[in-house]
Amino acid sequence: MHIAILAGDGIGPEIMEQAVRILHALNLTDLKLSDALVGGAAYHAVGHPLPDETLKLCQEADAILFGAVGDPSCDSLERHLRPEQAILGLRSALGLFANLRPAKMLTALSDMSALKPEVAAEIDLLIVRELNGDVYFGEKGMRKTDEGLREGYDIMSYDEDEVRRIAHVAFKAAQRRKGKLCSVDKANVLETSQLWRDVVIEVSAQYPDVTLDHMYVDNAAMQLVRSPGQFDVVVTGNLFGDILSDQASMCVGSIGLLASASLGEGTCGLYEPIHGSAPDIAGKGSANPCAMILSAVMMLRHSFGLELQALKIEQAVAAILDDNILAADLGGHHDCQQIGDAILAKMV
Ligand code: IPM
Ligand code: MG
Repeated sequence: MHIAILAGDGIGPEIMEQAVRILHALNLTDLKLSDALVGGAAYHAVGHPLPDETLKLCQEADAILFGAVGDPSCDSLERHLRPEQAILGLRSALGLFANLRPAKMLTALSDMSALKPEVAAEIDLLIVRELNGDVYFGEKGMRKTDEGLREGYDIMSYDEDEVRRIAHVAFKAAQRRKGKLCSVDKANVLETSQLWRDVVIEVSAQYPDVTLDHMYVDNAAMQLVRSPGQFDVVVTGNLFGDILSDQASMCVGSIGLLASASLGEGTCGLYEPIHGSAPDIAGKGSANPCAMILSAVMMLRHSFGLELQALKIEQAVAAILDDNILAADLGGHHDCQQIGDAILAKMV
């Protein structure tokens, strides 16, 4: 089990430290962790957000644990040198096209949701976000209009193979859950979405046991706060998935809780919290490491099939939240280290 540890920027290193402590506590015999630079930290050290050595390590590793990237001091760099390009570059170079972002309301946190407790209580959903295409990876640039005005552009597109492969992932996930899939698009306006919808419908013929619905993204954003309990699996494109998953996180209490797995055809997966580097609180010790730790849980499960160990950590996280051991994002006063300590204590 060779794991690349990419802590990155902002709160990345402090939350990663806790995840690593917890992995060590499992006493797994063939665990090997290798650290590498990524994001703004890599740019400041070696002049590139995704250095060749980091990419090479990731290509050789069995799994990647990723903290966060984003550093305001890099905001004025050319786009290809900005920290965010590291995660986009990894997703693309490793063909990690399927991003699984589960959101479930824990009973202990029912008053933390931005929604009414009875509405939030029903949340148990999985967002399957496409991660290798869409407006994120289309041609982009700055140009001048004929009138001499500055114009920015980003091309949105999906080809049918890209839609088909993510649709299969989503239908299979729905089969393992409640058998309901909602495909989110903007087919009333976008051709990209019309193709998305057509292809998802074609693929659905192979999954007669899954109930498929379609929803426009604006309506989906509204339904996610009106009655989130209606969703089981949601499949959507890269941009819509980015937005809806942040929204889903506040519905279950905090963005500090949501983990994700990015998977491709190969065996190597990348696991990261859905939140960013939170530069405003970095270095203060007040970050919530739960999303990072739960990302390690997803790794144990998806990459290594270590269900028992995954469950042990997951239950320890739920138990400390039950005991009201909370970081500032959930209105608590425990720091990152104390939360790590408490989880470790529950694991023995
Ligand atoms: C996420 C993040 C990234 C994204 C950023 C850091 C590029 O917001 O993983 O959700 O937009 O995909
Ligand atoms: Mg995001």
